Amino acid sequence: MIQIFISDIENGIQADGTVKELESTFPGVKFNFDLNDSSLNDSSSPFPCGHTILRAEGTAINAEAIISTLNKAGFRCAILEDKVCSKTADTMEEFWETSFIEKQEMWGFEPSRSAVLTNGFFVGKGVKNVLIPGIGYGRNARVFRDNGMAVTGIELSKTAIEMARKHYGTDMAIHHGSVVDMPFDNYRYDGIFCYALIHLLDAEERKKLIMACYYQLSDNGYMVFTALSKEAHTYGKGKHIGKDRYELFGGVKMFFYDRESVHAEFDGAGLVEITEIKENFPFFLVKCRKAMA
Ligand SMILES: C[S@@+](CC[C@H](N)C(=O)[O-])C[C@H]1O[C@@H](n2cnc3c(N)ncnc32)[C@H](O)[C@@H]1O
Repeated sequence: MIQIFISDIENGIQADGTVKELESTFPGVKFNFDLNDSSLNDSSSPFPCGHTILRAEGTAINAEAIISTLNKAGFRCAILEDKVCSKTADTMEEFWETSFIEKQEMWGFEPSRSAVLTNGFFVGKGVKNVLIPGIGYGRNARVFRDNGMAVTGIELSKTAIEMARKHYGTDMAIHHGSVVDMPFDNYRYDGIFCYALIHLLDAEERKKLIMACYYQLSDNGYMVFTALSKEAHTYGKGKHIGKDRYELFGGVKMFFYDRESVHAEFDGAGLVEITEIKENFPFFLVKCRKAMA
């Protein structure tokens, strides 16, 4: 078991002394500090926003006792929660901006397998208007548009929106902002397709996204999400930051789903089908339908 804490320990001397004390108090548990994470010296982000990381690894970890040991030594300490401070959205926007500036059309121009399958499904259901939250530079939009559907996107990165306009024209509306702030318009869509985005959000944000999408569906409309599965080889790697949630690839936070968590999050939003699909990672294709009121 690994438990991650945040602390206001600032330097190697404090860290070394604390590790010694912790390891003698809690035999069988290994402790180490990551002081590189610190933004403690930035006066705009005091603890808990600014913090260093304490990692505990062992078979039995008494979090309360560990926090109390640090507090008695004069340091602040808490369990690392999914959402530590309100900088998350800004940070994610910066992350995606930088990614699109540096890597440009990083997934090529072919639609994902999930988009192709969902397009076939939407065509069969006579879907005419599709909303794509997290549309990126639009590669998944094309398949729906080629089949006569009007597409509207939502995207956090301005650079990705500019790329979408360059490749697919200016007649596709894309709202700039975070899906957490949906809705961006008053339309009801008969199809919503959300690819590889939901697992990047924290629990509260995922709930908001699912509810906001469900709200924007017309009666009998369908929404399809692709969500990262625990079968991915990256599951359990990186920094553990919450239940089934890890920080990987230099700052991307990912939640890993299993069937139980898909049910827990989507049952209340008209869940009708869960299938497994392999893209660059194993995903769940989660299909929901909004029943007539
Ligand atoms: C994994 S990518 C998938 C992109 C696109 N669906 C594709 O495959 O071509 C996630 C996309 O969602 C965007 N994104 C991430 N967080 C977002 C948020 N909170 N609100 C809106 N878009 C977001 C990213 O900028 C990125 O374009």
